[in-house]
Amino acid sequence: MGSRREFLRDVGCAGLALAASPMAFAEAANKAEAKNKKERELAPYEKDPVRLGFIGCGLMGGQNMRRALQLGQKITAVCDVDTGAYGFGNAKKYAPDAETFVDYREMLDKIKGKVDALVISTPDHSHFSIAMSSLNHGFPIYLEKPMCHTIYQIRELTKLSKQKALTTQMGNMVHSGDGIRITKEWIAAGAIGKVKEVVLWTCRPLSGCNERPGGFKQWPPADPIPETLDWDKWQNTATPATFTKRVVPLNWRRFFKYGSGSLGDIGCHMIDIPMYALGLGYPSRVTSRQRGGTHISVPLQDEVVYYFDSDNQGEKVKLTWYSGFLKPDKNGNWEPGYDKSFLPPLPEEFTKLGRGYKDLSMDGIFFMGSEGVIYSPTMHLMGKPVLLPKSRWDDIKDSIRQTEPRIKYTNHFLNFIEGVRSDIKNTTSNFSDMQPLTEVVQLGNLALQSGEDIYWDWEKMECKGSKRANDFINPPMRSGWY
Ligand SMILES: NC(=O)c1ccc[n+]([C@@H]2O[C@H](COP(=O)([O-])OP(=O)(O)OC[C@H]3O[C@@H](n4cnc5c(N)ncnc54)[C@H](O)[C@@H]3O)[C@@H](O)[C@H]2O)c1
Repeated sequence: MGSRREFLRDVGCAGLALAASPMAFAEAANKAEAKNKKERELAPYEKDPVRLGFIGCGLMGGQNMRRALQLGQKITAVCDVDTGAYGFGNAKKYAPDAETFVDYREMLDKIKGKVDALVISTPDHSHFSIAMSSLNHGFPIYLEKPMCHTIYQIRELTKLSKQKALTTQMGNMVHSGDGIRITKEWIAAGAIGKVKEVVLWTCRPLSGCNERPGGFKQWPPADPIPETLDWDKWQNTATPATFTKRVVPLNWRRFFKYGSGSLGDIGCHMIDIPMYALGLGYPSRVTSRQRGGTHISVPLQDEVVYYFDSDNQGEKVKLTWYSGFLKPDKNGNWEPGYDKSFLPPLPEEFTKLGRGYKDLSMDGIFFMGSEGVIYSPTMHLMGKPVLLPKSRWDDIKDSIRQTEPRIKYTNHFLNFIEGVRSDIKNTTSNFSDMQPLTEVVQLGNLALQSGEDIYWDWEKMECKGSKRANDFINPPMRSGWY
């Protein structure tokens, strides 16, 4: 129990003013007690912080730093190939006393005994080499999603993580939330009957991002390399190219050479939910259509269809992914050139409510079942999804069982810290568990890049009968980086 002084501090003036109303006072007291409880539970993590090293300090690196500090952890080393405001800016802001590096290889050689674990938030193409080197140096790692840029890399990294038996966590936060577990329990309870199809959509890369894909048929013209950027180190294992400001920062994700398009960006969060809820493994076939993509830049709009031979009930599942969702304007007009054939199909349970595309969330999931629909109206489903029709709830509420253990605090980063401290055996997004998800994401990119239908032989790691797609499974990597 917190002391009376703590209680008064937390309830504060508002609590005293509310004292006239016993109900409101009790509510404030409960809230304060809950807050104190959480503080007490978190105290060990704050008293005995993990010393973290950060590699990649841009948009997500900065967010991860903020999260780590909020949890009372320490940042003792940082590395970024851009010593200017973008790369070193967050490092200076969040960890002014940390040792700084420009080359992660030098950092890994020098931080033994000063860093307990690493957080890697670099562009996708350098995840593999940095993560391999980090594990080989004996460091547990939190690695941003997608785990790797190619399927070969995913398999090699997973293999090494098993050999080293070090804590690993991929940065798909949804996997520590309740939403993914609730969805699984609802489906298991028969909330929507037999699942016929899963439809997922995202507004990326047409909305919610700073620059749209450029439809480049040739590599963009060279720009002067910024003085603060080590472009050679940025390129890492990628075959060298001339510098273009179209790529750095952030927009590398619109280029197949460095990024993984909308699937890598958002699919890692969203496809995780049906894969977990339905117990899906590898698809046997993947097909795709797209608008505006080239062999260099990712599509503006696309549809990727995954065919799974069996879910956890032994049923076939079709999962369709749509990128580039936009809404019509207030007059019902669509952006010029917009191809409506890439709009996700709307289930009757949704349209019957008088709703259409203008009411649809910018990212979302429909689990289409024989008896209803489960709708996730968000990219990060952390809480409950929506069951349609609403009347269905009364039919199934008594059948729902909490079979999936919940994650303490639902905090993905804290889950990693618990793993590093050996307070838990397995983190929620350890690499072994995330291998199929990341592979599914990159299989979609194989289909989009090659323009071929993929017949996936996961044991042989091969696209059966393919002329081009196999070339993207393990493209050449520049040596010397891991
Ligand atoms: N989990 C999420 O919700 C989420 C959200 C956004 C981004 N991400 C992921 O985070 C990663 C980074 O994305 P971002 O949006 O922060 O990109 P960004 O371009 O903003 O930042 C990347 C940073 O890494 C630095 N960098 C590049 N190569 C490096 C190297 N070899 N060594 C050290 N530093 C290097 C860059 O200079 C830059 O500061 C990506 O994998 C992305 O998919 C995850």
